Amino acid sequence: MAAERDDSGSTDSYADTPLMRELTRDHARRRKLEGLTFEAPEQTRIITVANQKGGVGKTSTTVNLGAALAMGGLRVLVVDVDPQGNASTALGLEHHAEVPSMYEVLVESQPMSEVIQPASELENLLCAPATINLSGAEIELVSMVAREGRLRGAIRDLLTERDQKGLERLDYVLIDCPPSLGLLTVNALVAAREVLIPIQAEYYALEGLTLLLNNIDLIRQHLNPDLVVSSILLTMYDARTRLAAQVAQDVRDHFPQQTLDVTIPRSVRISEAPSYGQTVLTYDPGSSGALAYRAAAHELTVRQVP
Ligand SMILES: Nc1ncnc2c1ncn2[C@@H]1O[C@H](COP(=O)(O)OP(=O)(O)OP(=O)(O)O)[C@@H](O)[C@H]1O
Ligand SMILES: [Mg+2]
Repeated sequence: MAAERDDSGSTDSYADTPLMRELTRDHARRRKLEGLTFEAPEQTRIITVANQKGGVGKTSTTVNLGAALAMGGLRVLVVDVDPQGNASTALGLEHHAEVPSMYEVLVESQPMSEVIQPASELENLLCAPATINLSGAEIELVSMVAREGRLRGAIRDLLTERDQKGLERLDYVLIDCPPSLGLLTVNALVAAREVLIPIQAEYYALEGLTLLLNNIDLIRQHLNPDLVVSSILLTMYDARTRLAAQVAQDVRDHFPQQTLDVTIPRSVRISEAPSYGQTVLTYDPGSSGALAYRAAAHELTVRQVP
């Protein structure tokens, strides 16, 4: 971005620092998002947030986008299929081993409506929790009939049940995956129409992506012909480093249609929020991280699915 000039035409040397750019951007975002309600999709959008790489921001992205969409007036369900249960924690849900969870849904065919809990912080935000029991599901599912389609069936039944009961339609279903390509992730990829891949803006970012994309191709060929990688979100983006900018450019060159314009900055607030059972949206609504996730959620609602 070019440095701003004052009236005398001289360059204001403070205007082009990363901090100034960040403040200017946050200010613009705050104004744009103020009082904005998001447009509901024509039908429920089911989006799986996946990357077999650990710690790239899958869970942060799932819960914060979910909260941002709910804040924008939409009805959102977060489905936690990671035995770590981090999304359930971040949304303030009980998820000790006795809590009915996605384990009972996937392995014992319990209806999802019986395990869903409201998230503690926002109206319109629901969550189907994960418990540690899910770690066994990966193995227990192996011998089951139609083992890859268990989650798809459960979500379809839920949508039908809500419809029949006259409950309001869910606008978004976001599925948080574990950092592996096992049966839980396969179930999530079969259940969704869209995949959102969070990519951490660091050196090894694109390594391993080929494996994920190959898996997605296989699932498209054999189990879910409609599946598309609809969005790629750059996370933990540090605008002060040249490396982050380079990685971001690489990702945009490879995936020009899929990569969201909005990037998520590295922000302490984002990492602190879960320990209070909150998303960054309520923990610190004015922070860069919260604004970025709201801007990303808005972008998600307005762009065409490739
Ligand atoms: N934008 C960010 N800025 C700073 N810290 C972040 C950001 N996004 C995520 N983190 C932190 O990085 C760690 C990993 O993030 P997160 O749990 O969202 O990744 P993940 O891909 O879900 O991990 P896993 O593979 O273990 O499920 C967490 O401690 C989280 O709080
Ligand atoms: Mg996670």
